[in-house]
Amino acid sequence: MQRRHFLRTSAAALSTLSLFSGARAANVWQPPADFGQHPALQPIRGLQGQDLACEAVTVEGHWPEGLRGTLYRNGPALFERAGQRYRHWFDGDGLVQAWRFGGDGRVSHRARFVQTPKFVAEQQAGRFLLPAFGTAIAPQRPIRSADDLNAANTSVLPLPDRLLALWEGGSAFAMDRDTLATRGLVTWSDELAGMPFSAHPKIEPDGTIWNFGSAGGKMVLYQLSAEGALRRHAVFEMPPCAMVHDFVVTQRYLVFLLPPLTLDMQAVRRGDTSFAEAMRWKAPGQAVTTRVLVIDKADFERRRVFELPAEMVFHFANGWDDGDLLTVDYVRSSDAPIGEQRLRAIAHGDHRPGTPSQAALLRLNLRTGDHRVAQGADTLEFPRVDPRVVGQRHRQVFYPAALTPGHEKRFGHDSVLRLDRESGQRDAFTFGPEAVVEEHVFVPRPGSAREGEGWLVGAGYDLRWRSSFATVFNAEHLSDGPVAVARLPYAVPHAFHGQFVAA
Ligand SMILES: [Fe+2]
Repeated sequence: MQRRHFLRTSAAALSTLSLFSGARAANVWQPPADFGQHPALQPIRGLQGQDLACEAVTVEGHWPEGLRGTLYRNGPALFERAGQRYRHWFDGDGLVQAWRFGGDGRVSHRARFVQTPKFVAEQQAGRFLLPAFGTAIAPQRPIRSADDLNAANTSVLPLPDRLLALWEGGSAFAMDRDTLATRGLVTWSDELAGMPFSAHPKIEPDGTIWNFGSAGGKMVLYQLSAEGALRRHAVFEMPPCAMVHDFVVTQRYLVFLLPPLTLDMQAVRRGDTSFAEAMRWKAPGQAVTTRVLVIDKADFERRRVFELPAEMVFHFANGWDDGDLLTVDYVRSSDAPIGEQRLRAIAHGDHRPGTPSQAALLRLNLRTGDHRVAQGADTLEFPRVDPRVVGQRHRQVFYPAALTPGHEKRFGHDSVLRLDRESGQRDAFTFGPEAVVEEHVFVPRPGSAREGEGWLVGAGYDLRWRSSFATVFNAEHLSDGPVAVARLPYAVPHAFHGQFVAA
């Protein structure tokens, strides 16, 4: 019955999309003919649906011998059809990349679009057929579920026998780990068919995978084995929040921060307003706090809610619990609407300074509700920790950060930064204003055991060469600069998230 109720609610939310069908309005954007000529806009312009491949990427420096495996990344990469562009960065169709490191200095790169039903249909038609998260488009195809709109563009989850391409609002898509060929939608069980599976699953050191999805006022929880078999799940009514992007696991809990975001469905029903535009921050008559939802891993029915002053959060680094004291390490900003405008501006090749996002550490007493949030000063995002400390006390967090003077005037991050949460020390390397640095992931050095002993590997874009690159750092000495850089002969649209799989 839970499932039926969930689906009914989700279906009710989605059925409003059908009201688009009578609307002629589409708020796509018609770019000028010379759009994307500036070097900074090359990755924003996007691709046209084609695969990319480079068998022998040029490597500068010495690629570490022990660093063998594949860095998978995913991000929105097709923004324009028939001379019309999406209005929001999150709208583009997902492009999954595989950077393969042979350990002998050889690096290759491959990228393929996820063949979602939406992508395949629009590719055949040569024009947009369906609304996207941030662009209202009158649907030219039936919308039976969120998966008809699924862009599969946010992250990946590697499993032993497949790679999953993830999107916040719908099912995962399975792909071949070697060829990146799309196999199709993932159904965890008959009961969970079509339910959202978020783009931020957490993998504990023993391989246990946790994830969630939210839609229509409901939340679904997943516990999977390391092989990707469903172990447990639950569906329940959650405190109101229009967008839940990420969460954190600790030894005993699953923890969510729910910002005061609501969805103005009346605006969506009018047909000329996208979901992103219909989001409201601290709407009148609605909650004005950010709620902390704490769920017992051993018993999903044991849920508690605490309240913080309103703040926006997309991403979590990690968390742990110690007796009654819960610690959550994340990235916060003071509000959402400006950030949303900033994300829309990116799709236009425009840059607007927004509310900075900064490292935050929440300490919450689960018995008394007393809490304290410590906040850093650096502008940063996309936090990652050593995978060996997920759900346990950690010390090191790695971020792309904006540290070059005047960074407010430019899009993106220009540095990588390590924060030591115990000593407070910072270790950073700045590429300068001519690079856009994306998420970097931590890769443990084979045979090592100590947290932080390994490499930091990630991607970026170089405005001087108009091409994308991968970098590898000694994670304990970022300020020494990259030990190697692999430069592609082409630009790849900026990706959001990735995972490394050791060979
Ligand atoms: Fe994310």
